[in-house]
Amino acid sequence: MFIAIEGIDGSGKSTAITKLRDRLVSRGFAVHVTSEPSQSPIGRLIRDWLLKPNSGVAHPSVFALLFVADRVQHYYGEVKPMLDKDYLVISERYMESTLAYQGAMGLPMSWLIELHRPVPRPDLTIILDVPVDVAVNRLRSRRELEVFEINKDFLEKVREILLSRAREVDYPVINADRSIGEVVDDVFDIITRYLRR
Ligand code: TMP
Repeated sequence: MFIAIEGIDGSGKSTAITKLRDRLVSRGFAVHVTSEPSQSPIGRLIRDWLLKPNSGVAHPSVFALLFVADRVQHYYGEVKPMLDKDYLVISERYMESTLAYQGAMGLPMSWLIELHRPVPRPDLTIILDVPVDVAVNRLRSRRELEVFEINKDFLEKVREILLSRAREVDYPVINADRSIGEVVDDVFDIITRYLRR
């Protein structure tokens, strides 16, 4: 089973995923946790260049093309091999991140969806939702902010797209402006309900 956890920067995805993994492992699941941008050379290029606030001007389509290229490599190079070994794979960010972030950069949704033709959708996509103010306060405690984390209006747009996609495609949305325990309980319930189906 392939699960994607999505949400704006500062929504608490990493912390929730770590706790979720521990809980799933303690119930006997083989779990592989991964994230995007991935550890592939394309993922490194994205982090070392594109996401630095002083990276210079790159056309929004360069963001989309690199994030999707990284995703295709990540899926076939890491996610699928682990799924084939019967691991439950949890990815911090996947397709919805590109639709939301690069959509918020002004790129057409239909093109962004089309770019994803080479990769399958996750079995389950879960959105962790927090108000932008809450997210930005959390991010301020981190040292070096990345390019999108410094722009509240941009994050508002990203959040709006994530929520409208969730309504359209029927993704579960978890209120992540609560204690980490409550958030993980909800995510865990959604996953176990899905597995029982
Ligand atoms: P991270 O902070 O979750 O590691 O992600 C790095 C940044 O990259 C974050 O601001 C979200 C952004 N991003 C995109 O703009 N498009 C994408 O497809 C992905 C995966 C991330």
